[in-house]
Amino acid sequence: MPAGIDDIAVYIPKLYVDATDFASQRGLDPAKLQKGLGVSQMAMVDTNQDPACLAANVCLKIIQKNNLKPADIGRLYVSTESSIDESKAMNSYVIGMLEQVYGSGVFEHCGGVETKFACVSGSYALYDNANWIRAGEADGKYAIVVVSDIAKYDMGSSGELTQGAGAVAMLLNDCPRLLEFDPRVASTSIKDEYDFYRPTGKSTPIVHGQYSNLLYLIQVRNALEIYKRKAQETGLIEIGQGETVLDHIDYMCMHLPYSNMGKKAFAYLLRHEWRSLPRWKSVVDAVGMEEPIPNNIGTIETILEDRAFMEKDHHFNKRLVETKEFKKEYNAKLASSLRASTMVGNIYTASLYLSFRSALEFEHNRGTDLAGKRFGFCSYGSGSSAMIFSGVICPQYREVVEPMNITAEIGERRRLTFEEYEIIHENKRLPNNPMLDTSKEFVLVDVNTSPDSQGQRRYVYNE
Ligand code: COA
Repeated sequence: MPAGIDDIAVYIPKLYVDATDFASQRGLDPAKLQKGLGVSQMAMVDTNQDPACLAANVCLKIIQKNNLKPADIGRLYVSTESSIDESKAMNSYVIGMLEQVYGSGVFEHCGGVETKFACVSGSYALYDNANWIRAGEADGKYAIVVVSDIAKYDMGSSGELTQGAGAVAMLLNDCPRLLEFDPRVASTSIKDEYDFYRPTGKSTPIVHGQYSNLLYLIQVRNALEIYKRKAQETGLIEIGQGETVLDHIDYMCMHLPYSNMGKKAFAYLLRHEWRSLPRWKSVVDAVGMEEPIPNNIGTIETILEDRAFMEKDHHFNKRLVETKEFKKEYNAKLASSLRASTMVGNIYTASLYLSFRSALEFEHNRGTDLAGKRFGFCSYGSGSSAMIFSGVICPQYREVVEPMNITAEIGERRRLTFEEYEIIHENKRLPNNPMLDTSKEFVLVDVNTSPDSQGQRRYVYNE
């Protein structure tokens, strides 16, 4: 039985910090954010929003857009790394909020859990729910997978340049209009690592940024090796002489902690795939220098400590992305997927799916016929695991993609002053004192502090 994504919705909070304001206050060149990282605006949550609100808002959006009844939905999974409780799952809060609109108890048989594995957990949730459908367990019902996160880093840290907030909901079924998953090719790589983690009780993560960047590349490449084997064994892809598996994937969506990381990761995959092919000679000639090799391929630490190699390697990559060979691949397969991320910033679990949403809209706007085109998804979560899977765009995709307009979907936003940003970041305003008045949205009213009910959250739907 096929399974895939029937529709996709995005919810982005209405406050943002502009890269230029941020840079001037932190004494940085704005080009570092805009060009170096690919961050123009970073979405911020209001004082009366948490990741559960974002998840409920995007869930309501996809339900209303598709005129679904609560009984049509058999599963609701919420994937996040911004968990608000050690035990109570985020989908239960979302059910509670949705029942304020649809009536008490109407989602009683909509099972699900909250999943966690940094930014990759949404991909595991998609895979598990696709298999629920493939196994015939869905009984004609939809599954909804929501990915919702608030990326918040310590003030003054390098991670502070890559913040953001938002949620994406994906509606899954056995006759999708948008994308049908390729069967039996989803591939993973996993290793116990401390590149980025948030110990219990801490509101911001501990990040080893450069280590994490390199681990992301290595893990995604490991997963691609398995994908390549599975794709050939299942007969999905036949890799001819002088070809790479990437020649058979029309579009790539990458995990985007910041937009330019997608370009880096794509370049890394191409570099490793092309190296053994005849075309590599002309690429290296165009780069104009030999590909550097580390003195010691022991660990990520030894590679990072090898300054001479890192500098040469950085230089090589900078030249590689300027070659016509790379630019051709980049413009054809990746560029459209990076655009929405520059407007929103990092949304952890949701960033890969915002990139898919971005590719659909901007490729369609370029006049591309997407029907039958294969999308490859490169998911990465710190800690660490990568997952690679793929799917093919369905014949009736236009029905869903034609009305897409990410600017309209994000809606009117308010640019925060730097002082307002600091107040929000440091939680100096309470939920009862939001920056914005909103309507038709779920908001957080308060968090109980009494010993018996500590941590209980009240939400309301603002008519
Ligand atoms: N104009 C244009 N580009 C500039 C610039 C300027 N004035 N100054 C710096 N840059 C570029 C750098 O060259 C670099 O790009 P490159 O690697 O393509 O050359 C980029 O901006 C980032 O600068 P850099 O100094 O290397 O990084 P940083 O120390 O500021 O840290 C992160 C960047 C992403 C590592 C950091 O923000 C972070 O830890 N983020 C959170 C964790 C994360 O995102 N992990 C990723 C894996 S999930």
